[in-house]
Amino acid sequence: MSKIQKLTAVKGMNDVLPKDAALWEYFEDTVRGVMRTYGYSQIRTPIVEYTPLFHRGIGEVTDIVEKEMYSFEDSLNGEKLSLRPECTASVCRSVLEHNQLYDGGKRLWYQGPMFRHERPQRGRYRQFHQVGAEALGFAGPDVDAELIFLCARLWEELELPGVKLSLNSLGNKEERARHRADLIIHLEANVEALDADAKRRLHTNPLRVLDSKNPAVREVADRAPKLIDYLGPDSRAHFEQLQRLLKARGIGFEIDPKLVRGLDYYNLTVFEWITTELGAQGTICGGGRYDGLMELLGGQPAPACGFAMGVERVLELIGLSGFNAQSSLDVYVVHAGEGALSVALQAAEGLRDQGLDVVVHAGEASFKSQMKKADASGAAFAVIIGEDEVRNGQATLKPLRDAQGGELHGAVQERLALDALPNRLLEAFGLETLT
Ligand code: HAM
Repeated sequence: MSKIQKLTAVKGMNDVLPKDAALWEYFEDTVRGVMRTYGYSQIRTPIVEYTPLFHRGIGEVTDIVEKEMYSFEDSLNGEKLSLRPECTASVCRSVLEHNQLYDGGKRLWYQGPMFRHERPQRGRYRQFHQVGAEALGFAGPDVDAELIFLCARLWEELELPGVKLSLNSLGNKEERARHRADLIIHLEANVEALDADAKRRLHTNPLRVLDSKNPAVREVADRAPKLIDYLGPDSRAHFEQLQRLLKARGIGFEIDPKLVRGLDYYNLTVFEWITTELGAQGTICGGGRYDGLMELLGGQPAPACGFAMGVERVLELIGLSGFNAQSSLDVYVVHAGEGALSVALQAAEGLRDQGLDVVVHAGEASFKSQMKKADASGAAFAVIIGEDEVRNGQATLKPLRDAQGGELHGAVQERLALDALPNRLLEAFGLETLT
């Protein structure tokens, strides 16, 4: 008989296993708290959008649109759809569609999976998660600074080591056009050092050439005219005010004239948070201003700025700084003998009423094997309901761990009345008892 083949997840798309759940939840709780303290509201948009949204929003001549989109035709009606590779375009689409913007600015945040068909490696996946924030309808640079403060606060709360801020300004359309003309002249003069990708982009999107990872192309990029030297007085004032606000909050930064970002919608401020701890994929967060995107998507012009961070990268960094996930289970209920199951289930409900986290052993098993499960569950206490306990309206309470989740040596178990159990446990956890 042929063996049935085991199925696997799609390459580059990962399961988040229960052993990592505590880390994800800690991160998500911290993000929610920080977003709230800055007055950002959550928005949830669909994972699938019409493909032209990303072509228009991100730009035709970008890695994402040229090579990395999961695009397909709906087999039922032939519509051209894509899995979202990022969320900024979706957020703008949603805000325009529901006419949410023109009654003042909007501060929004989101979290969820994004999809890019990249070569999977450490820190780079085909399904990955982002947390992002978008401040729509604000011309800055005050909200540019606010978004960077928000990130800095998050890194502080997560105690992330050594994350550095890189900044640049991409100016306005006219400034970019003047720079582009000079950049093309420079690239043409060095065309023999360019690879096929750079040659192709030389006339379609020369700014992208500055982003190349190829050392020969980078050498040409290093000597290229710098966009920052083309900024007019308004763009310069915007950039300088942002720098003053960051300095006043004590946020260090480096100006990187080659920082152009991989998406076409940016103007003025662009920034990235980078770490050297994660190898090649060290950018944990990137963002900037995109004042032209709303109009490009068919809305009235509206200035905007935002960022998104790669959750897997941030979590890896938290892991490196020694995050220790503790089981949060308080009680594991063990039961054996006549009438014990029903008493155990009711006792557990009574404990859950007080906010305790309780698992009742499910299925038939010997007392010994149930105690082993109780131990392995990470619970602080086992509550034992045997025949004798049922007869006397009692429970046995056995401590399994100390308050830090460590081993207990020579801990004593105690027998107590079932109705005294909630208070005894609340007291053990240092919580307010019932009167
Ligand atoms: P992005 O730079 O393409 O920007 O992505 C933001 C972050 O997502 C990156 O810095 C990285 O941490 C993470 N990331 C990107 N691709 C992958 C991948 N394949 N695997 C793991 N992590 C990845 C944007 O997406 C913009 N929407 C950011 C933005 C928001 N700009 C303005 N508002």
